Amino acid sequence: MAEIVDVGQAMEQALALLEGGDVVAIPTETVYGLAGDATSGVGVARIFEAKGRPRFNPLIAHVADLAMATRIAVLDPLSTRLAEAFWPGPLTLVLPQRSENGIHPLATAGLDTIALRMPRGFGGELIARLGRPLAAPSANSSGRISATTAQAVAADLGEKIKLVVDGGATPVGLESTIVKVEDGTVRLLRPGGIAAEEIEAIAGAKLLRGAAGIEAPGMLASHYAPGASVRLNVRQIAGGEALLAFGATRAEGWQHAVAVRNLSETGDLREAATNLFAHMQALDRSGAAAIAVEPIPFDGLGEAINDRLSRAAAPRDKTG
Ligand code: TXA
Ligand code: MG
Repeated sequence: MAEIVDVGQAMEQALALLEGGDVVAIPTETVYGLAGDATSGVGVARIFEAKGRPRFNPLIAHVADLAMATRIAVLDPLSTRLAEAFWPGPLTLVLPQRSENGIHPLATAGLDTIALRMPRGFGGELIARLGRPLAAPSANSSGRISATTAQAVAADLGEKIKLVVDGGATPVGLESTIVKVEDGTVRLLRPGGIAAEEIEAIAGAKLLRGAAGIEAPGMLASHYAPGASVRLNVRQIAGGEALLAFGATRAEGWQHAVAVRNLSETGDLREAATNLFAHMQALDRSGAAAIAVEPIPFDGLGEAINDRLSRAAAPRDKTG
């Protein structure tokens, strides 16, 4: 069973495991990550193994600073501006790789591009101490709900890993926003913890959306799946359902719900993002056959919240 160690005490133990080619679950500002040395084939293979993740799905490499990023990839002027505006923080940039950058090809699934981000807090310090980038997908079994607490990581992956670094509940609660600059315009590959509008304010133009060539291969239809089925935009509760509520007015029949969790009583999308995964896990534990979700607006972080919910509601397959 994994040991859960407070973030203030975990640095040396985490470093020793990473140096030995092992994996460590670490807190980031978005969700918990399952980190391994991105330059080590063994370290990266252990990430895929622990998550049960398909190997065609590349990992994000996390860096300590812009200098480390530019040793790994080529940053065009607009990508540099975005990095300067949002790093450290929940923005991931897909960039052309430099040759012989040390990144193990398993981490990038053999692509000639790489997804880079600079995390806030413990992760950044850990990477600086290690002196090498960390590959880190969300610390959950492939296809399941991402973990926003050390306890959720341990419940899911505890049998497969040795250490979970406990930094408390992650403040953002959603994975990073993934973008790629194409000919001076920004394409949104995955909505996430930074709203599209915030990126547009820096880029000075609307984001492009939708697929063009290889996008985020991990964006499988079914993902973030709880054990219960998920029903969206619900205005009336059916028998045996649990309710994921939003705002001040309740869906009809809410009194009969098996369990109720409200993402944000005041209708605050930032608060809703923070609560999303933990509330879904709690409703799943209630034993309800289905989770009914009230309508959630699409503006700001609502885009990413609706993205995760629609994947949670999608027909289940075995590749996620
Ligand atoms: O907030 C986050 O981004 C968290 C924390 C731990 O940093 N990480 C995370 O990683 O969400 P993961 O592996 O669950 O999601 C990474 C996504 C996948 O959808 C993957 O397909 C995509 O990034 N990706 C990775 N490399 C890519 C590339 N070269 N081109 C396009 N998409 C890429
Ligand atoms: Mg994930």
